[in-house]
Amino acid sequence: MLTFEKVLSFVVLFSATITATVLAKEQDPSCPGSPAWKNAKCKMSIDFKEPCHIVQSEINLRLTSASFVDPHNGGTYSQISSQEGEVKGSRLTANRKWTDLLDFAFISTNEGSTCTVTACSESQVFSILDFSTNYCNLRNLYCNSSDGCTPVQYDLTYEENYVSCGQNKKQNCIAKVSSS
Ligand SMILES: *[C@@H]1O[C@H](CO)[C@@H](O)[C@H](O)[C@H]1NC(C)=O
Repeated sequence: MLTFEKVLSFVVLFSATITATVLAKEQDPSCPGSPAWKNAKCKMSIDFKEPCHIVQSEINLRLTSASFVDPHNGGTYSQISSQEGEVKGSRLTANRKWTDLLDFAFISTNEGSTCTVTACSESQVFSILDFSTNYCNLRNLYCNSSDGCTPVQYDLTYEENYVSCGQNKKQNCIAKVSSS
Protein backbone atom coordinates (compact mmCIF):
# COMPACT_ATOMS: atom_id res chain seq x y z
CA MET A 1 0.00 0.00 0.00
CA LEU A 2 1.20 3.48 -0.81
CA THR A 3 1.04 5.25 2.51
CA PHE A 4 1.71 8.89 3.09
CA GLU A 5 4.95 7.92 4.89
CA LYS A 6 6.16 5.96 1.88
CA VAL A 7 5.45 8.84 -0.48
CA LEU A 8 7.15 11.21 1.91
CA SER A 9 10.26 9.04 2.24
CA PHE A 10 10.42 8.74 -1.53
CA VAL A 11 10.24 12.51 -1.91
CA VAL A 12 12.95 12.99 0.73
CA LEU A 13 15.20 10.43 -0.95
CA PHE A 14 14.57 11.97 -4.36
CA SER A 15 15.45 15.50 -3.22
CA ALA A 16 18.54 14.19 -1.44
CA THR A 17 19.65 12.62 -4.73
CA ILE A 18 19.10 15.87 -6.60
CA THR A 19 21.05 17.80 -3.96
CA ALA A 20 23.92 15.31 -4.18
CA THR A 21 23.95 15.62 -7.98
CA VAL A 22 24.07 19.40 -7.78
CA LEU A 23 26.88 19.33 -5.22
CA ALA A 24 28.78 16.87 -7.38
CA LYS A 25 28.73 19.24 -10.38
CA GLU A 26 32.16 19.18 -11.89
CA GLN A 27 34.23 22.16 -10.83
CA ASP A 28 36.91 23.54 -13.13
CA PRO A 29 39.75 24.75 -10.89
CA SER A 30 40.63 27.58 -13.26
CA CYS A 31 37.07 28.95 -13.18
CA PRO A 32 35.35 30.88 -10.37
CA GLY A 33 32.56 28.31 -9.96
CA SER A 34 28.83 28.90 -9.62
CA PRO A 35 26.07 27.73 -7.30
CA ALA A 36 23.70 27.30 -10.28
CA TRP A 37 23.21 23.73 -11.51
CA LYS A 38 23.65 24.97 -15.04
CA ASN A 39 25.26 28.25 -15.99
CA ALA A 40 26.78 30.10 -18.92
CA LYS A 41 30.54 30.60 -18.87
CA CYS A 42 33.50 31.49 -21.02
CA LYS A 43 36.95 30.01 -20.60
CA MET A 44 39.79 31.16 -22.85
CA SER A 45 43.51 31.21 -23.08
CA ILE A 46 44.93 34.46 -24.44
CA ASP A 47 48.46 34.96 -25.75
CA PHE A 48 49.76 38.49 -25.21
CA LYS A 49 52.80 40.09 -26.85
CA GLU A 50 53.51 41.95 -23.58
CA PRO A 51 55.04 40.67 -20.33
CA CYS A 52 52.67 39.46 -17.59
CA HIS A 53 53.19 42.43 -15.25
CA ILE A 54 51.99 44.81 -18.01
CA VAL A 55 48.95 42.66 -18.85
CA GLN A 56 48.06 42.19 -15.18
CA SER A 57 48.42 45.95 -14.54
CA GLU A 58 46.07 46.87 -17.36
CA ILE A 59 43.43 44.32 -16.26
CA ASN A 60 43.68 45.60 -12.67
CA LEU A 61 43.42 49.21 -13.83
CA ARG A 62 40.22 48.48 -15.76
CA LEU A 63 38.80 46.59 -12.77
CA THR A 64 39.50 49.43 -10.36
CA SER A 65 39.66 52.78 -12.22
CA ALA A 66 36.72 55.09 -11.78
CA SER A 67 37.65 56.55 -15.18
CA PHE A 68 37.25 53.23 -17.02
CA VAL A 69 33.86 52.85 -18.70
CA ASP A 70 32.76 49.29 -19.53
CA PRO A 71 31.91 49.45 -23.27
CA HIS A 72 29.39 46.59 -22.91
CA ASN A 73 26.28 48.41 -21.68
CA GLY A 74 28.15 50.09 -18.85
CA GLY A 75 28.50 47.35 -16.24
CA THR A 76 30.44 47.79 -13.00
CA TYR A 77 33.65 45.87 -12.49
CA SER A 78 35.21 45.19 -9.08
CA GLN A 79 38.48 43.64 -8.08
CA ILE A 80 38.14 40.83 -5.54
CA SER A 81 41.86 40.08 -5.24
CA SER A 82 45.17 40.44 -7.04
CA GLN A 83 48.42 38.70 -6.28
CA GLU A 84 51.37 37.76 -8.43
CA GLY A 85 50.05 35.70 -11.34
CA GLU A 86 46.40 35.77 -10.30
CA VAL A 87 43.49 38.21 -10.41
CA LYS A 88 39.88 37.68 -9.31
CA GLY A 89 37.08 40.08 -10.06
CA SER A 90 33.39 40.51 -10.69
CA ARG A 91 31.08 42.40 -13.01
CA LEU A 92 27.65 43.67 -12.13
CA THR A 93 25.24 44.40 -15.00
CA ALA A 94 24.02 47.97 -15.47
CA ASN A 95 20.56 46.99 -14.18
CA ARG A 96 22.36 45.82 -11.00
CA LYS A 97 20.64 42.40 -11.23
CA TRP A 98 23.37 39.97 -12.25
CA THR A 99 26.91 39.50 -11.00
CA ASP A 100 29.37 37.30 -12.87
CA LEU A 101 32.68 36.19 -11.38
CA LEU A 102 35.99 36.33 -13.26
CA ASP A 103 39.32 34.57 -12.75
CA PHE A 104 42.63 35.31 -14.49
CA ALA A 105 45.88 33.35 -14.20
CA PHE A 106 49.08 34.75 -15.76
CA ILE A 107 51.93 32.59 -17.03
CA SER A 108 55.14 34.13 -18.37
CA THR A 109 56.29 32.88 -21.76
CA ASN A 110 59.41 33.48 -23.90
CA GLU A 111 61.61 34.19 -20.87
CA GLY A 112 59.19 36.71 -19.49
CA SER A 113 58.86 38.82 -22.63
CA THR A 114 55.29 37.64 -23.36
CA CYS A 115 52.37 36.29 -21.35
CA THR A 116 49.71 33.60 -21.63
CA VAL A 117 46.57 34.21 -19.61
CA THR A 118 43.92 31.66 -18.66
CA ALA A 119 40.68 33.57 -18.17
CA CYS A 120 37.27 32.35 -17.09
CA SER A 121 33.98 34.14 -16.46
CA GLU A 122 30.94 32.40 -14.96
CA SER A 123 27.32 33.42 -14.43
CA GLN A 124 26.13 32.80 -10.88
CA VAL A 125 22.54 31.96 -11.74
CA PHE A 126 20.86 29.37 -13.96
CA SER A 127 21.68 30.34 -17.55
CA ILE A 128 22.34 28.79 -20.93
CA LEU A 129 22.48 31.63 -23.46
CA ASP A 130 24.36 34.71 -22.35
CA PHE A 131 24.67 36.56 -25.68
CA SER A 132 28.46 36.59 -25.22
CA THR A 133 28.27 38.38 -21.87
CA ASN A 134 30.80 36.13 -20.13
CA TYR A 135 33.12 36.50 -23.13
CA CYS A 136 32.76 40.30 -23.11
CA ASN A 137 33.28 40.38 -19.32
CA LEU A 138 36.81 39.09 -19.98
CA ARG A 139 37.61 40.69 -23.32
CA ASN A 140 36.72 44.24 -22.28
CA LEU A 141 39.47 44.11 -19.65
CA TYR A 142 42.27 43.76 -22.25
CA CYS A 143 40.87 44.71 -25.70
CA ASN A 144 42.87 47.39 -27.50
CA SER A 145 42.39 50.64 -29.39
CA SER A 146 42.09 48.81 -32.74
CA ASP A 147 39.10 46.97 -31.24
CA GLY A 148 37.43 50.26 -30.34
CA CYS A 149 38.33 49.93 -26.66
CA THR A 150 39.93 52.65 -24.54
CA PRO A 151 42.93 51.33 -22.59
CA VAL A 152 43.64 52.95 -19.22
CA GLN A 153 47.43 52.67 -19.58
CA TYR A 154 48.60 49.91 -21.94
CA ASP A 155 47.41 49.12 -25.47
CA LEU A 156 47.84 45.32 -25.55
CA THR A 157 48.27 42.95 -28.52
CA TYR A 158 46.86 39.47 -28.14
CA GLU A 159 45.34 36.35 -29.65
CA GLU A 160 42.36 34.55 -28.10
CA ASN A 161 41.95 30.75 -28.00
CA TYR A 162 38.53 29.52 -26.93
CA VAL A 163 38.59 26.57 -24.54
CA SER A 164 34.96 26.55 -23.44
CA CYS A 165 33.45 29.73 -24.78
CA GLY A 166 30.75 28.89 -27.28
CA GLN A 167 29.30 32.38 -27.35
CA ASN A 168 32.09 34.73 -28.34
CA LYS A 169 30.76 37.45 -30.60
CA LYS A 170 33.10 40.41 -30.20
CA GLN A 171 30.60 42.74 -31.88
CA ASN A 172 28.41 42.26 -28.78
CA CYS A 173 31.13 43.63 -26.50
CA ILE A 174 30.80 47.24 -27.55
CA ALA A 175 27.16 48.19 -27.10
CA LYS A 176 25.70 51.29 -25.56
CA VAL A 177 22.14 50.12 -24.79
CA SER A 178 21.78 50.03 -21.00
CA SER A 179 19.69 46.88 -20.61
CA SER A 180 21.98 43.92 -19.93
C1 LIG B 1 44.99 44.80 -31.10
O1 LIG B 1 44.89 43.38 -31.03
C2 LIG B 1 44.82 42.80 -32.31
C3 LIG B 1 44.65 41.30 -32.10
O2 LIG B 1 43.47 41.02 -31.45
C4 LIG B 1 46.05 43.10 -33.11
O3 LIG B 1 45.92 42.57 -34.40
C5 LIG B 1 46.27 44.60 -33.18
O4 LIG B 1 47.51 44.88 -33.78
C6 LIG B 1 46.25 45.20 -31.79
N1 LIG B 1 46.33 46.66 -31.87
C7 LIG B 1 47.17 47.37 -31.14
C8 LIG B 1 47.04 48.85 -31.27
O5 LIG B 1 48.02 46.87 -30.41
